[in-house]
Amino acid sequence: MFEFRKPLIAANWKMYKTVGEALDFVKEFLPLVAGVNEVDIAVCPPFTSLAALSIGFKGSTLKLGAQDVFWESQGAYTGEISPTMLLDLDCRYVIIGHSERRHVMGESDLIINRKIKAVGLAGMIPIFCVGETLEEREQGLAREVVRQQLEKGLQDISAQELVIAYEPVWAIGTGVNASPADAREMTGFIRENLAILYDKTWAEDVLILYGGSVKPDNIAQFMAEKDVDGALVGGASLSGVDFAQIVRLNGNV
Ligand code: PGA
Repeated sequence: MFEFRKPLIAANWKMYKTVGEALDFVKEFLPLVAGVNEVDIAVCPPFTSLAALSIGFKGSTLKLGAQDVFWESQGAYTGEISPTMLLDLDCRYVIIGHSERRHVMGESDLIINRKIKAVGLAGMIPIFCVGETLEEREQGLAREVVRQQLEKGLQDISAQELVIAYEPVWAIGTGVNASPADAREMTGFIRENLAILYDKTWAEDVLILYGGSVKPDNIAQFMAEKDVDGALVGGASLSGVDFAQIVRLNGNV
């Protein structure tokens, strides 16, 4: 965690919580993080709760994010949601290329690239997820896989505002987090590659999050690493108390 990069802790609720449950979370969580200024906090609920949270977060410093988007601004695309629609609901961030979308929905690097561009054009910030599977890691391919995801996902993109989330697939939802040393190695590698793909100054400004079984009792270890600027939190973000402990970086509320 570097002085000049303000950390970001983002909740990825995945396909959890009805609107009522999302509002219950707000009621519990907001008082627990009152006065927290050292980190930015974002919550990415399912699309169905965005409107309610946009109202629930009014007057707070909490930012809203979506978990996915389509790349066109409108049109005959049944079932899709556009960047314009997300912006209209006060979304600041959009998660793109999460491993569940890559592996369960078969999302390709080309699709991810289109979405990153569309989100940037709309004036929001992509949280671009990269990470290797266990098999790839065991074959010694982790760096190459992540390098290619970065190169393809960011193709033809000028240095737009961007957050990268390094999420090793084997650590997501498994309870087995990467070691801080693994996170250090891969986030450092990502920043080196951003400097090669674009320029060094820009690469120094990009926030790189770690994601994969982040919990109140391990967040501090990750944040102690130089190139880890925050976390993307799945399971542990569903509880207001747990997520507040993570946001406070020390496990205490
Ligand atoms: P997890 O999920 O914290 O439940 O491992 C992280 C993510 O998928 O972003």
